[in-house]
Amino acid sequence: MAKFLCRALFVSFLAVSLGTAADAQTNPVKSIGNVNNVQINGQQVKLTTDNAHAEVTVYSPSVIRVRIDKQPLGRDFSFAVIASPEKTKANVTESANDVTVLTDSVKLIIYKKPFRTAFYTLDNKVISEDEKGLTTSWVNESVTTYKHMQPDEKFIGLGEKTGGLNRRGSGYTHWNSDTFGYRTDQDPIYSTIPFYMGVHDGLNYGIFLDNTYQSDFNFGASNNRFSSFGARGGEMNYYFIYHKKVADIITSYTWLTGRMKMPPLWSLGYQQNRYSYYPETEVMRIAQTLREKKIPADGITLDIHYMDKYKVFTWDKQRFPDPAKMNAKLKDMGFKLTVIVDPGVKVEPGYGVYERGLKENIFVKYPDSTNYTGEVWPGWCHFPDFTSDKARAWWGTEIKKYAADGISGIWNDMNEFSTWGQKNPDNILFNYAGLGASHLQARNVYGFNMARASFEGFKNAIGKRPFILTRSGYAGLQRYTAIWTGDNRAEDDHMLLGVRLLSSLGLSGVPFTGMDIGGFTGNPSIPLFARWMQIGAFSPYFRNHTAVNTKSAEPWAFGEEVLEISRNYVNLRYRMLPYLYSTFYEATQNGEPVVRSLAIDYTHDPKIYDTKFENQYKFGSSLMIAPFIGSANYGTVYFPGGDWYDLYNDELISGKQEKIMNVSMNKLPVYVKESSIIPMQSLVQTTAEKPTDTLTVHIYKGNRNNSFVYYEDDGESYSYENGAFYKRTISYNAAQKQIVFEKAEGSISSKFKYLKLQLHGFGSNANIKASGANGKVSTEFVSLLTPISKFDPQGTANQAEGHNVQSMIISNSNNRVVINY
Ligand code: NOJ
Repeated sequence: MAKFLCRALFVSFLAVSLGTAADAQTNPVKSIGNVNNVQINGQQVKLTTDNAHAEVTVYSPSVIRVRIDKQPLGRDFSFAVIASPEKTKANVTESANDVTVLTDSVKLIIYKKPFRTAFYTLDNKVISEDEKGLTTSWVNESVTTYKHMQPDEKFIGLGEKTGGLNRRGSGYTHWNSDTFGYRTDQDPIYSTIPFYMGVHDGLNYGIFLDNTYQSDFNFGASNNRFSSFGARGGEMNYYFIYHKKVADIITSYTWLTGRMKMPPLWSLGYQQNRYSYYPETEVMRIAQTLREKKIPADGITLDIHYMDKYKVFTWDKQRFPDPAKMNAKLKDMGFKLTVIVDPGVKVEPGYGVYERGLKENIFVKYPDSTNYTGEVWPGWCHFPDFTSDKARAWWGTEIKKYAADGISGIWNDMNEFSTWGQKNPDNILFNYAGLGASHLQARNVYGFNMARASFEGFKNAIGKRPFILTRSGYAGLQRYTAIWTGDNRAEDDHMLLGVRLLSSLGLSGVPFTGMDIGGFTGNPSIPLFARWMQIGAFSPYFRNHTAVNTKSAEPWAFGEEVLEISRNYVNLRYRMLPYLYSTFYEATQNGEPVVRSLAIDYTHDPKIYDTKFENQYKFGSSLMIAPFIGSANYGTVYFPGGDWYDLYNDELISGKQEKIMNVSMNKLPVYVKESSIIPMQSLVQTTAEKPTDTLTVHIYKGNRNNSFVYYEDDGESYSYENGAFYKRTISYNAAQKQIVFEKAEGSISSKFKYLKLQLHGFGSNANIKASGANGKVSTEFVSLLTPISKFDPQGTANQAEGHNVQSMIISNSNNRVVINY
């Protein structure tokens, strides 16, 4: 025993002494060290430490930026951030041990020994602080900042990331990758948005790491000490955002990285796609069938087979002899066409796009100045360097021909960028806005810049709002493009993952999102397809898509019942367009998403993070969706605080409870939040068709105050930026028992002559009076779905659904109208 003890002591002595020796000479971790110089300049503090240079800048009372590098900080450039520091009150003071930065919203203390940041509320609660022993350090060129992990801290957001709503216990990497048929826990996939939010003790904050190198996030994955974020090169460059509400954090994040512009109205209609519809007769057959079967639709999308041997900006003349003529026919039928574009330009002498690209010298290069050649659909290709102004301008010129062909949308694919072999050399070079960068720094912004080039070029070419879709992107992509979640699988778990991906993208500043409805790889079962179509109706970009060689996956390919279910929900989608369009308008104003994770409004209710409920989401501010799989007969829904109504029968359900619900394939569980205001229109088959002259405004009785901004414009031009819109705030005042339609704003008049108010939950004897308008109250039967009882012998579906509401029609003047109840 004694001998054993002696040996153990000797071994540990050796380890300690060797360890000390090793630390001094060979420790590969370089810490930031102590602060030894401080310069305060208004809202900015520059510091030098033993091993680094740092700069802390107040951007707004709620947004503070921290930059750190081993060398003096370089030129300040970002593809993502478009905001500059606003002039604001910031009190910066220095003492022997620290520097304090105080704004009207947050207090930051920068401790000096060693350099360490800690963010506090104004009443001194810790919001987020560097982990004391670890702070910021480097291993070779990789830089990481470690934050102390609070005991009950949760992490949400981080863009297009698989996994759960609460990311605690997991680690993630950003390295844009083409991940065909990815697993539901695969990481990384296509896009990089290095922005997340932490939630603990009634507080919430955001951190945006603006660094385009491969980046890594650890939210307590295999450690119980810290959360960390870092990148494999470049600066530690992050923005800390603090607000009391998650919605306001998203608003500040999108103040930094920009917001979407109004989408073309048609892009919110149903889109039909597969890989690929060709030739022209097949495209026309699909268009015709959608109309014959009365599935409202606005878009058809062409995948790579429309091109001549996959060469970008060409048409296969056999398959599509006269694209402009085809488009004119489609337009007459109320359809818009979107075409796919891939970044790879085939190396083929005589091919104009290639020749002009060579001449303009816009391709990505090796260090010896030869063009990089990689293999993808067309064969060996060069790749435009979208990080350069010149290449984007060149792309903008090439894309013009699609405008002449009558195309309305551009779908940017394969832009991670993808090549066979899935590996691009580290040493290929990019312009990177004139700064120069290797593949290691440029990859994660390649797709973003391709989508940007398509947006800028195509907007110019068509002179109105283009629809742009991308697979890959970086923070700020919302300024240019919608995004879809790539090659998912026709599996239940993938449909649910898709919902979480859209929720997470929404938390990360991206409102216009979609997934391949029905699943890209494989063939969906009947219940899966039905449920996915229903969920599609409640997702921002609603496109059905499937891979080459899968079975047909149009709404009519799964039998009569699924056709009816699909029609029911696409119809509902079209009737909801005024609500949806107004929700998009909100996104353009404050960055709040359309797919609204419950973490936005119920941040500190732990139940919503439960894996049982994490797939629930709100579609806009009023509707909550519980996306159970299509084959389920029952499911448990969590109703957060406040009362809720069942969308289909107005049953009132009180909040803060779990409830087991019967569910069926025919009906997606959807609940309306009390006091909601939901404008709807009559059914149309395409947004090119005019709805009737009556806007139906559904109002749900409740105990909370609420307001909704109703918004209209021409749906296609940018004249709304110069005031050509119609906007009206509708508010619900529970205490005063009033509904108020404020005076209309904007220079155009509404397309609706009448407002029909449908009052849910007010009872049949409510005494409802309008002042400022004439209206008579009557009782009306409302049913949002068409009965499909012949397929439902058990009677569990929606055949008997509907309910009486009080309703009143008033003329839609621009004046203020007050309704008392
Ligand atoms: C990959 C895309 O993710 C998919 O949607 C598309 O159909 C194929 N490329 C073919 O273009």
